[in-house]
Amino acid sequence: MFISCDKCNTKYKVDESVFKKPSLRVKCSKCQHVFTAYKTPPPLDDTPFVLEDSGAVIKTQAPAPECKIICVCNQKGGVAKTSTCLNLASALSAKGKRVLLIDFDVQANLSLLLRCKNKKSFFEVMDTDDGDLTKAIVKTKHGIWLLPSNSRMALASKKYLNQENFEYLLREKLARIKKVFDYIIIDTPPSGDFYTLNALLASDLAIIPTQCDYLSMNGVAHIVNMINVIKNKTNHKLDYRGLATLYTPTNTVENVIYKKLKTQLAGKMFDTVINRDSSLQESHIARLPVIEYDENSQAGKQYLELSDELLGI
Ligand SMILES: Nc1ncnc2c1ncn2[C@@H]1O[C@H](COP(=O)(O)OP(=O)(O)O)[C@@H](O)[C@H]1O
Ligand SMILES: [Mg+2]
Repeated sequence: MFISCDKCNTKYKVDESVFKKPSLRVKCSKCQHVFTAYKTPPPLDDTPFVLEDSGAVIKTQAPAPECKIICVCNQKGGVAKTSTCLNLASALSAKGKRVLLIDFDVQANLSLLLRCKNKKSFFEVMDTDDGDLTKAIVKTKHGIWLLPSNSRMALASKKYLNQENFEYLLREKLARIKKVFDYIIIDTPPSGDFYTLNALLASDLAIIPTQCDYLSMNGVAHIVNMINVIKNKTNHKLDYRGLATLYTPTNTVENVIYKKLKTQLAGKMFDTVINRDSSLQESHIARLPVIEYDENSQAGKQYLELSDELLGI
Protein backbone atom coordinates (compact mmCIF):
# COMPACT_ATOMS: atom_id res chain seq x y z
CA MET A 1 0.00 0.00 0.00
CA PHE A 2 0.97 3.66 -0.34
CA ILE A 3 1.06 6.39 2.29
CA SER A 4 1.75 10.03 1.53
CA CYS A 5 3.14 12.91 3.54
CA ASP A 6 0.43 15.48 4.43
CA LYS A 7 2.83 18.32 3.83
CA CYS A 8 5.02 17.64 0.77
CA ASN A 9 2.84 14.88 -0.68
CA THR A 10 5.77 12.46 -1.13
CA LYS A 11 4.43 8.92 -1.48
CA TYR A 12 5.94 5.91 0.26
CA LYS A 13 5.31 2.26 -0.42
CA VAL A 14 4.88 0.37 2.86
CA ASP A 15 3.95 -3.16 3.78
CA GLU A 16 0.53 -3.26 5.45
CA SER A 17 2.03 -5.48 8.18
CA VAL A 18 3.82 -2.45 9.69
CA PHE A 19 0.43 -1.30 10.97
CA LYS A 20 0.00 -2.92 14.37
CA LYS A 21 -2.78 -0.36 15.02
CA PRO A 22 -5.20 1.35 12.56
CA SER A 23 -2.90 4.36 12.39
CA LEU A 24 0.79 5.08 12.70
CA ARG A 25 2.87 8.23 13.33
CA VAL A 26 5.61 8.49 10.72
CA LYS A 27 8.26 11.03 9.77
CA CYS A 28 8.69 12.07 6.14
CA SER A 29 12.32 11.55 5.22
CA LYS A 30 12.05 14.28 2.57
CA CYS A 31 10.60 17.24 4.52
CA GLN A 32 10.90 15.83 8.09
CA HIS A 33 7.18 16.46 8.72
CA VAL A 34 5.60 14.03 11.21
CA PHE A 35 2.18 12.84 10.12
CA THR A 36 -0.40 10.11 10.76
CA ALA A 37 -0.70 7.30 8.21
CA TYR A 38 -3.88 5.24 8.23
CA LYS A 39 -4.39 1.59 7.41
CA THR A 40 -8.06 2.21 6.59
CA PRO A 41 -9.22 5.51 5.08
CA PRO A 42 -9.15 8.39 7.60
CA PRO A 43 -12.05 10.81 7.79
CA LEU A 44 -11.96 13.03 4.74
CA ASP A 45 -10.23 16.36 5.11
CA ASP A 46 -12.90 18.50 3.53
CA THR A 47 -11.62 21.82 4.79
CA PRO A 48 -11.46 23.95 1.69
CA PHE A 49 -7.84 24.88 1.10
CA VAL A 50 -6.99 28.55 1.02
CA LEU A 51 -5.44 30.29 -1.92
CA GLU A 52 -3.67 33.49 -0.94
CA ASP A 53 -4.92 36.69 -2.55
CA SER A 54 -2.17 36.60 -5.12
CA GLY A 55 -3.51 33.20 -6.18
CA ALA A 56 0.08 32.04 -6.22
CA VAL A 57 0.27 29.50 -3.41
CA ILE A 58 -1.76 26.92 -1.60
CA LYS A 59 -1.48 27.58 2.12
CA THR A 60 1.37 25.15 2.69
CA GLN A 61 2.88 24.51 -0.71
CA ALA A 62 5.07 26.22 -3.24
CA PRO A 63 3.60 27.29 -6.60
CA ALA A 64 3.68 24.85 -9.48
CA PRO A 65 5.73 26.00 -12.47
CA GLU A 66 3.20 25.31 -15.21
CA CYS A 67 -0.19 23.72 -15.18
CA LYS A 68 -1.51 21.44 -17.90
CA ILE A 69 -5.30 21.21 -18.06
CA ILE A 70 -6.66 17.95 -19.43
CA CYS A 71 -10.20 17.12 -20.34
CA VAL A 72 -11.17 13.43 -20.44
CA CYS A 73 -14.04 13.17 -22.87
CA ASN A 74 -16.02 10.95 -25.19
CA GLN A 75 -19.69 11.29 -25.99
CA LYS A 76 -20.00 7.55 -25.53
CA GLY A 77 -20.66 6.30 -21.99
CA GLY A 78 -18.86 3.43 -20.28
CA VAL A 79 -15.51 3.92 -22.02
CA ALA A 80 -13.57 4.48 -18.74
CA LYS A 81 -13.54 8.30 -18.68
CA THR A 82 -14.07 8.45 -14.92
CA SER A 83 -11.72 5.51 -14.26
CA THR A 84 -9.04 7.23 -16.35
CA CYS A 85 -9.44 10.55 -14.50
CA LEU A 86 -9.03 8.93 -11.10
CA ASN A 87 -6.22 6.55 -11.97
CA LEU A 88 -4.22 8.96 -14.09
CA ALA A 89 -4.46 11.55 -11.29
CA SER A 90 -3.34 8.96 -8.76
CA ALA A 91 -0.40 7.89 -10.95
CA LEU A 92 0.70 11.52 -11.44
CA SER A 93 0.33 12.18 -7.73
CA ALA A 94 2.50 9.11 -7.00
CA LYS A 95 5.18 10.84 -9.09
CA GLY A 96 4.97 13.95 -6.89
CA LYS A 97 2.71 16.03 -9.14
CA ARG A 98 0.03 18.24 -7.63
CA VAL A 99 -3.25 17.28 -9.26
CA LEU A 100 -6.74 18.76 -9.11
CA LEU A 101 -9.61 16.63 -10.40
CA ILE A 102 -12.77 18.38 -11.51
CA ASP A 103 -15.94 16.35 -11.57
CA PHE A 104 -17.93 18.08 -14.30
CA ASP A 105 -20.44 15.28 -14.73
CA VAL A 106 -23.83 15.43 -13.06
CA GLN A 107 -23.62 11.64 -12.47
CA ALA A 108 -20.87 12.52 -9.93
CA ASN A 109 -19.20 9.10 -10.22
CA LEU A 110 -15.75 10.56 -9.63
CA SER A 111 -16.99 12.24 -6.44
CA LEU A 112 -18.52 8.94 -5.35
CA LEU A 113 -15.22 7.09 -5.91
CA LEU A 114 -13.39 9.76 -3.91
CA ARG A 115 -15.96 9.63 -1.07
CA CYS A 116 -17.07 13.20 -1.74
CA LYS A 117 -20.70 12.70 -2.63
CA ASN A 118 -23.13 15.51 -1.81
CA LYS A 119 -20.42 18.10 -1.28
CA LYS A 120 -20.60 21.56 -2.80
CA SER A 121 -20.18 21.54 -6.59
CA PHE A 122 -19.18 24.04 -9.29
CA PHE A 123 -22.86 25.01 -9.59
CA GLU A 124 -23.35 25.93 -5.93
CA VAL A 125 -20.11 27.90 -5.83
CA MET A 126 -21.10 29.86 -8.92
CA ASP A 127 -24.59 30.35 -7.51
CA THR A 128 -23.80 31.40 -3.95
CA ASP A 129 -20.08 31.89 -3.32
CA ASP A 130 -19.08 34.56 -5.85
CA GLY A 131 -17.67 31.90 -8.13
CA ASP A 132 -14.69 31.25 -5.86
CA LEU A 133 -14.03 27.58 -6.65
CA THR A 134 -11.53 27.27 -3.80
CA LYS A 135 -14.54 27.24 -1.46
CA ALA A 136 -15.55 23.83 -2.79
CA ILE A 137 -12.20 22.16 -3.47
CA VAL A 138 -11.38 19.39 -1.01
CA LYS A 139 -8.16 17.48 -0.50
CA THR A 140 -8.71 13.75 -0.63
CA LYS A 141 -6.67 11.20 1.27
CA HIS A 142 -4.98 10.12 -1.97
CA GLY A 143 -3.01 13.36 -2.24
CA ILE A 144 -5.34 14.53 -5.00
CA TRP A 145 -7.59 17.59 -4.77
CA LEU A 146 -11.18 17.43 -6.00
CA LEU A 147 -13.82 19.91 -7.09
CA PRO A 148 -16.84 17.65 -6.53
CA SER A 149 -20.08 17.31 -8.45
CA ASN A 150 -23.59 16.43 -7.34
CA SER A 151 -27.03 16.17 -8.90
CA ARG A 152 -27.53 19.94 -8.66
CA MET A 153 -24.83 20.36 -11.32
CA ALA A 154 -27.62 19.72 -13.83
CA LEU A 155 -28.85 23.25 -13.09
CA ALA A 156 -25.61 24.84 -14.32
CA SER A 157 -26.47 24.15 -17.94
CA LYS A 158 -29.98 25.52 -17.45
CA LYS A 159 -28.75 28.69 -15.78
CA TYR A 160 -25.81 29.59 -18.00
CA LEU A 161 -26.52 28.13 -21.44
CA ASN A 162 -28.13 31.31 -22.76
CA GLN A 163 -25.51 33.66 -21.33
CA GLU A 164 -22.94 35.24 -23.58
CA ASN A 165 -19.60 33.39 -23.51
CA PHE A 166 -21.07 30.60 -21.37
CA GLU A 167 -18.55 28.20 -22.90
CA TYR A 168 -15.65 30.04 -21.20
CA LEU A 169 -17.10 29.92 -17.69
CA LEU A 170 -14.83 27.14 -16.39
CA ARG A 171 -11.76 28.46 -18.15
CA GLU A 172 -12.16 31.88 -16.48
CA LYS A 173 -12.58 30.32 -13.07
CA LEU A 174 -9.49 28.14 -13.46
CA ALA A 175 -7.21 31.02 -14.39
CA ARG A 176 -6.35 31.72 -10.75
CA ILE A 177 -6.45 28.17 -9.48
CA LYS A 178 -4.21 26.71 -12.15
CA LYS A 179 -1.25 28.56 -10.69
CA VAL A 180 -1.00 26.05 -7.86
CA PHE A 181 -1.37 22.72 -9.65
CA ASP A 182 0.81 20.77 -12.07
CA TYR A 183 -2.23 19.09 -13.63
CA ILE A 184 -5.96 19.73 -13.64
CA ILE A 185 -7.97 16.80 -15.01
CA ILE A 186 -11.64 17.28 -15.87
CA ASP A 187 -14.16 14.42 -16.00
CA THR A 188 -17.04 15.02 -18.40
CA PRO A 189 -20.46 13.49 -19.12
CA PRO A 190 -21.17 11.27 -22.14
CA SER A 191 -22.45 14.17 -24.24
CA GLY A 192 -21.17 17.16 -26.17
CA ASP A 193 -23.12 19.79 -24.27
CA PHE A 194 -22.45 22.74 -21.91
CA TYR A 195 -20.18 20.68 -19.65
CA THR A 196 -17.96 19.08 -22.29
CA LEU A 197 -17.72 22.33 -24.25
CA ASN A 198 -16.65 24.25 -21.13
CA ALA A 199 -14.14 21.52 -20.28
CA LEU A 200 -12.67 21.47 -23.80
CA LEU A 201 -12.33 25.25 -23.91
CA ALA A 202 -10.55 25.23 -20.55
CA SER A 203 -8.09 22.50 -21.59
CA ASP A 204 -4.73 22.19 -23.31
CA LEU A 205 -5.20 18.50 -24.05
CA ALA A 206 -8.21 16.23 -24.55
CA ILE A 207 -7.79 12.55 -23.71
CA ILE A 208 -10.36 10.43 -25.52
CA PRO A 209 -10.72 7.01 -23.89
CA THR A 210 -12.26 4.47 -26.23
CA GLN A 211 -13.03 0.80 -26.39
CA CYS A 212 -11.88 -0.95 -29.54
CA ASP A 213 -15.26 -1.63 -31.07
CA TYR A 214 -17.12 -0.26 -34.06
CA LEU A 215 -19.49 2.09 -32.21
CA SER A 216 -16.71 3.52 -30.08
CA MET A 217 -14.70 4.31 -33.20
CA ASN A 218 -17.67 6.37 -34.30
CA GLY A 219 -17.74 8.16 -30.92
CA VAL A 220 -14.06 9.09 -31.34
CA ALA A 221 -14.79 10.58 -34.75
CA HIS A 222 -17.52 12.77 -33.18
CA ILE A 223 -15.33 14.18 -30.44
CA VAL A 224 -12.38 14.77 -32.78
CA ASN A 225 -14.78 16.63 -35.06
CA MET A 226 -15.94 18.76 -32.14
CA ILE A 227 -12.33 19.54 -31.22
CA ASN A 228 -11.56 20.56 -34.80
CA VAL A 229 -14.60 22.85 -34.88
CA ILE A 230 -13.44 24.49 -31.65
CA LYS A 231 -9.94 24.94 -33.07
CA ASN A 232 -11.26 26.43 -36.30
CA LYS A 233 -13.80 28.77 -34.72
CA THR A 234 -11.67 30.02 -31.84
CA ASN A 235 -7.95 30.54 -31.50
CA HIS A 236 -7.87 28.04 -28.63
CA LYS A 237 -4.88 25.69 -28.79
CA LEU A 238 -6.15 22.21 -28.02
CA ASP A 239 -4.32 18.97 -28.67
CA TYR A 240 -5.82 15.49 -28.25
CA ARG A 241 -4.84 11.85 -27.76
CA GLY A 242 -6.90 8.67 -28.04
CA LEU A 243 -6.52 6.03 -25.34
CA ALA A 244 -7.55 2.41 -25.88
CA THR A 245 -9.34 1.22 -22.73
CA LEU A 246 -11.04 -2.00 -21.60
CA TYR A 247 -8.74 -3.71 -24.08
CA THR A 248 -8.49 -7.46 -24.48
CA PRO A 249 -5.25 -8.24 -26.36
CA THR A 250 -6.44 -11.72 -27.37
CA ASN A 251 -9.57 -10.41 -29.08
CA THR A 252 -9.01 -10.30 -32.86
CA VAL A 253 -11.74 -7.74 -33.56
CA GLU A 254 -10.33 -5.39 -30.93
CA ASN A 255 -6.86 -5.73 -32.45
CA VAL A 256 -8.15 -4.84 -35.90
CA ILE A 257 -10.10 -1.85 -34.58
CA TYR A 258 -7.14 -0.69 -32.49
CA LYS A 259 -5.04 -0.56 -35.68
CA LYS A 260 -7.82 1.32 -37.47
CA LEU A 261 -8.02 3.83 -34.60
CA LYS A 262 -4.28 4.41 -34.85
CA THR A 263 -4.69 5.20 -38.54
CA GLN A 264 -7.79 7.32 -37.94
CA LEU A 265 -6.01 9.44 -35.32
CA ALA A 266 -2.79 9.63 -37.31
CA GLY A 267 -0.20 9.36 -34.55
CA LYS A 268 -2.47 10.78 -31.87
CA MET A 269 -3.12 7.53 -29.95
CA PHE A 270 -1.22 6.89 -26.72
CA ASP A 271 1.13 3.90 -27.06
CA THR A 272 -0.09 2.79 -23.64
CA VAL A 273 -3.29 0.78 -23.66
CA ILE A 274 -5.40 -0.02 -20.60
CA ASN A 275 -6.40 -3.66 -20.49
CA ARG A 276 -9.70 -4.94 -19.18
CA ASP A 277 -8.75 -5.90 -15.64
CA SER A 278 -11.01 -7.10 -12.82
CA SER A 279 -8.73 -5.36 -10.29
CA LEU A 280 -9.96 -2.07 -11.63
CA GLN A 281 -13.58 -3.04 -11.04
CA GLU A 282 -12.69 -4.25 -7.54
CA SER A 283 -10.84 -0.99 -6.83
CA HIS A 284 -14.07 0.89 -7.56
CA ILE A 285 -15.88 -1.18 -4.95
CA ALA A 286 -13.09 -0.37 -2.47
CA ARG A 287 -13.26 3.24 -3.71
CA LEU A 288 -9.51 3.39 -4.18
CA PRO A 289 -7.25 4.24 -7.12
CA VAL A 290 -6.17 0.92 -8.62
CA ILE A 291 -2.47 1.42 -7.74
CA GLU A 292 -3.47 1.76 -4.09
CA TYR A 293 -5.85 -1.19 -4.28
CA ASP A 294 -3.36 -3.52 -5.95
CA GLU A 295 -0.02 -2.08 -6.93
CA ASN A 296 0.77 -5.16 -9.03
CA SER A 297 -2.42 -5.02 -11.06
CA GLN A 298 -2.04 -4.74 -14.79
CA ALA A 299 -4.35 -1.71 -15.01
CA GLY A 300 -2.35 -0.03 -12.22
CA LYS A 301 0.93 -0.53 -14.07
CA GLN A 302 -0.64 0.68 -17.29
CA TYR A 303 -1.97 3.88 -15.69
CA LEU A 304 1.53 4.51 -14.32
CA GLU A 305 2.90 3.99 -17.87
CA LEU A 306 0.26 6.38 -19.18
CA SER A 307 1.37 9.03 -16.70
CA ASP A 308 4.97 8.60 -17.93
CA GLU A 309 3.84 9.01 -21.50
CA LEU A 310 1.85 12.10 -20.56
CA LEU A 311 4.81 13.63 -18.75
CA GLY A 312 6.71 13.30 -22.02
CA ILE A 313 4.18 15.26 -24.10
N1 LIG B 1 -9.55 -1.30 -17.24
C1 LIG B 1 -10.77 -1.71 -16.86
N2 LIG B 1 -10.99 -3.03 -16.63
C2 LIG B 1 -12.22 -3.46 -16.25
N3 LIG B 1 -13.28 -2.66 -16.05
C3 LIG B 1 -13.12 -1.35 -16.25
C4 LIG B 1 -11.87 -0.80 -16.68
N4 LIG B 1 -12.02 0.54 -16.81
C5 LIG B 1 -13.29 0.81 -16.49
N5 LIG B 1 -13.96 -0.31 -16.16
C6 LIG B 1 -15.37 -0.45 -15.80
O1 LIG B 1 -16.15 0.04 -16.87
C7 LIG B 1 -17.28 0.73 -16.40
C8 LIG B 1 -17.32 2.14 -16.99
O2 LIG B 1 -16.21 2.87 -16.50
P1 LIG B 1 -16.31 4.43 -16.23
O3 LIG B 1 -14.96 4.88 -15.85
O4 LIG B 1 -17.45 4.73 -15.30
O5 LIG B 1 -16.68 4.95 -17.69
P2 LIG B 1 -17.33 6.34 -18.16
O6 LIG B 1 -16.92 7.39 -17.18
O7 LIG B 1 -16.76 6.57 -19.53
O8 LIG B 1 -18.81 6.14 -18.20
C9 LIG B 1 -17.20 0.73 -14.89
O9 LIG B 1 -18.04 -0.28 -14.42
C10 LIG B 1 -15.75 0.40 -14.60
O10 LIG B 1 -15.61 -0.33 -13.41
MG1 LIG C 1 -18.06 8.75 -16.03
